[in-house]
Amino acid sequence: MNVKQMVGEKAAEYVKEGMTVGLGTGSTAYYLVEALGKRVKEGLKITGVTTSTRTKEQAEALNIPLANLNDVTKIDLTIDGSDEVSENHQGIKGGGGALLFEKLVANASDKVIWIVDDSKMVKTLGAFPLPVEIVSFGYKQLFRLFESNNLHPELRLNESKEIYVTDGGHYIVDLHLGAIENPHEMAIWLDGLTGVVEHGLFLDMVNTVIVGHGNTVEVLDI
Ligand code: 5RP
Repeated sequence: MNVKQMVGEKAAEYVKEGMTVGLGTGSTAYYLVEALGKRVKEGLKITGVTTSTRTKEQAEALNIPLANLNDVTKIDLTIDGSDEVSENHQGIKGGGGALLFEKLVANASDKVIWIVDDSKMVKTLGAFPLPVEIVSFGYKQLFRLFESNNLHPELRLNESKEIYVTDGGHYIVDLHLGAIENPHEMAIWLDGLTGVVEHGLFLDMVNTVIVGHGNTVEVLDI
């Protein structure tokens, strides 16, 4: 069993009868959704709230009952992957382009679990390019602002080398920062920019990180 499957299946054990569960996006969350699909087939009753079209299609194919974020008052637990987790458990997410819906679902959740392999555990955030979701109208203005602040922006493209468009209809600029010494300061600055819809800094948001090391799993409760 690969490490992503191992942490995905471990996280599925946290899902209990009757829960409303936020379903993350990405190659690790994929295994969580597969494991939940299996348990639903065996009789588990849950309601999923998906964070992307991809996850929605997977969950529907597995007959996991789904609700729209609008139609739930709260989510008991959200389980998602992450691109980086720092030693003080702050995260960068959005490598898969779903950061906006992922953050909306996480914000509505009582508890958040991230599932990662140990290559994602870092001292300082920022080696992974920071995704920033921006409105398409006039996007080059923000791009130039990032350039002039030496944030090394790169407009995200899809496999066909066209501009990548998120499920929310926006563009993503990845900032190649190397290291983010003060993630909170960076988040506040990005939050204040007109045209920035959301960024991939997920700060003070996670309750448990499930880390896969080879063939063992470590659970970090924060
Ligand atoms: C998608 C995400 C993913 O959770 C993140 O990119 C991790 O993905 P993977 O498990 O494939 O490494 O934030 O927007």
